[in-house]
Amino acid sequence: MLRFMTAGESHGPGLVTIVEGLPYGLEVSPGQITDELARRRMGYGRGKRMAIEKDEIEILGGIRHGRTLGSPVAVLIRNTEWPRWSEEMSPEPAASKKQVTRPRPGHADLSGMLKYGTEDARDILERASARETAARTVAGILAKIFLATVGVRVLSHVVAIGPASSEGPPPGPDDQDAIDDSPVRCLDPAAEAAMVAAIEDAKAERDTLGGLFEVLGFDVPPGIGSHVHYDRRLDALLAAAIMSIPAIKGVEIGDGFEVATLAGSKSHDEILLDDGALLRPTNRAGGTEGGMSNGETIRVRGAMKPISTLMRPLRTVDMTTGEPAEAVRERSDVCAVPAAGVVGEQMVAYVLAAEFQRKFGGDTVDEFVSAVDRYRSGLVDRPRR
Ligand SMILES: Cc1cc2nc3c(=O)[nH]c(=O)nc-3n(C[C@H](O)[C@H](O)[C@H](O)COP(=O)(O)O)c2cc1C
Repeated sequence: MLRFMTAGESHGPGLVTIVEGLPYGLEVSPGQITDELARRRMGYGRGKRMAIEKDEIEILGGIRHGRTLGSPVAVLIRNTEWPRWSEEMSPEPAASKKQVTRPRPGHADLSGMLKYGTEDARDILERASARETAARTVAGILAKIFLATVGVRVLSHVVAIGPASSEGPPPGPDDQDAIDDSPVRCLDPAAEAAMVAAIEDAKAERDTLGGLFEVLGFDVPPGIGSHVHYDRRLDALLAAAIMSIPAIKGVEIGDGFEVATLAGSKSHDEILLDDGALLRPTNRAGGTEGGMSNGETIRVRGAMKPISTLMRPLRTVDMTTGEPAEAVRERSDVCAVPAAGVVGEQMVAYVLAAEFQRKFGGDTVDEFVSAVDRYRSGLVDRPRR
């Protein structure tokens, strides 16, 4: 079973990720993890912290001479801002000098303060911060490398930022570099310009924007996931993984929201024969039917709400004085949809990797690859004639 866990606060010494369940012999270099971390920092509209944070990593276990050992992989990402925060975030008993007593709307602050009975929202916001998604990147890149051994590729692109959206065709499996070259991670040049302009407008208004990203999983064979239990359905696992990303408030699999408005005759993907082989002329289902992959491209969208921390502060209440107040203005992004897309890609890769591993197993990468190859060969002559 593949699983991962992260620990660490936004301004603590660092973030730790432990990924367990990868087979022996997966080729991984520390540089691949660092490169993927850099991808999470991308995107027009990111705040100053992206320029400050360097994301240096240290591999603490599980990888030797560029290959996994079959033991848990543990990676430490140091927070380069730690020296500035070492007193405020010290694990030693001490009193905070700058308590955050004004909870920011749209953040975990108020619910956490009420839940734990604290007047210092920093106790909550440090862990609730999207900085944690850097740690998930470690699991995401390992998942991608694992999937690549059987030819599965996962990528993401931005579909909309605020009012600006792309009507362009979906990218193909080789488009990741071209997407990453776009400041908003969108391949449609007209939409890209409109998205950049929308971010500039929001910035000028001291406001923020959300948007939509799409994750695509290529060459996933049919039968990944399961119809037998609610918590084994691939669509449910994908939805939970995308929804777990901070600020994601909607998930769509395939044309999920559009088909809700259409007749059944226009909503499904018929099953045809092409020279004896199975053919699906459309992919409205987004690559899953009945909780299993159906062999078409996996297509999942995440809807991100606008960033909650505005330079034009929202109204709140000071929880210590009980007086109306303005929410604190922490250094913040205007728009983080391009980065959220990268995190979405990593979460989808992790879900797919976990389900591949569950179905095909293997102590070593070779055993895993052989099992996938054998299964794929068995699919070739279906339907039998
Ligand atoms: C990649 C990424 C970057 C983010 N950056 C910020 C930010 O700079 N400022 C902010 O207020 N929220 C940011 N968020 C969103 C908050 O973390 C999120 O809204 C908050 O933790 C509350 O969680 P919820 O929106 O899921 O309820 C970011 C989210 C992601 C995925």
